[in-house]
Amino acid sequence: MNLLKGKRGIISGALDSNSIAWKVAEKAHAHGAQIVLTNAPIAMRMGEIKVLSAKIKAEIIPADATSVPDLTNLFTKSQEILEGKIDFVLHSIGMSPNVRKNLPYTDLNYDFYMKSIDISAMSLHKMLSVAYKMDALSEWASVVALSYIAAQRTYPFYNDMAEAKAMLESIVRSFGYHYGKAKKIRINSVSQSPTKTTAGSGIKGFGDFYTYADAISPLGNASAESCADYCITLFSDLTRMVTMQNLYHDGGYSTTGVSNEVMEKLANN
Ligand SMILES: NC(=O)c1ccc[n+]([C@@H]2O[C@H](COP(=O)([O-])OP(=O)(O)OC[C@H]3O[C@@H](n4cnc5c(N)ncnc54)[C@H](O)[C@@H]3O)[C@@H](O)[C@H]2O)c1
Repeated sequence: MNLLKGKRGIISGALDSNSIAWKVAEKAHAHGAQIVLTNAPIAMRMGEIKVLSAKIKAEIIPADATSVPDLTNLFTKSQEILEGKIDFVLHSIGMSPNVRKNLPYTDLNYDFYMKSIDISAMSLHKMLSVAYKMDALSEWASVVALSYIAAQRTYPFYNDMAEAKAMLESIVRSFGYHYGKAKKIRINSVSQSPTKTTAGSGIKGFGDFYTYADAISPLGNASAESCADYCITLFSDLTRMVTMQNLYHDGGYSTTGVSNEVMEKLANN
């Protein structure tokens, strides 16, 4: 415990108690960090974030992650509230209007496509660029973004989010270089198992795929809670030389070809 004692962090994306970011915020608080929570203004209306805010005594600063003025306000106010530069940032943001509207990959709406990319990938660049120009992050700060293996391999149901995640991981590498050189700041993405959250469950066929991934992975699907544990280690000083990586947190899914369990299920059909 106390891996983050004295550290100041910004955590985006806590929508409800299922959100990966919600678990990260709870654990970061338990490990001694002081936190500011942020989410899109529309998420405030749902109100649940206020429960988390009260529980971990963290202020909320609404920010649409596609808006540079909102992000500028977020980093300005966070430094005021936390009384210093920021030591860690969680980017836990994803949304595709094409997925929401169930449009097939072969017939996407291109305005929606741009929105998917802007919200789910470019927002990381905007966050980092705002922080870079304001010099809002401390030396050896750590930034983690959440990704999915559809960035590397095709998952038909993941639709245009596949491109968004590929771009997100590329920004991790590119900005990781520049921020590493400038201030020894590290940037990584965590490629997480399918997880039962609002974003996850919004994907068509998610339930069946969740069961399949669980049966393939030798350790089973990684939960939101264990993902949060992993994020805490990446924010801590114990992983100071890890940067520009896409790190699989998936119970072994990404390196398993097939499992006996899945073979047996197919044989029984
Ligand atoms: N659930 C999964 O199966 C899974 C697997 C791998 C990676 N991820 C990734 O984890 C991250 C968190 O998702 P989650 O599964 O916890 O679901 P979630 O729905 O709880 O979180 C997604 C968050 O994105 C926020 N958001 C959407 N548009 C925004 C905007 N314009 N500005 C600011 N915030 C905005 C939402 O309000 C929400 O809090 C996402 O990047 C998601 O792609 C999820």
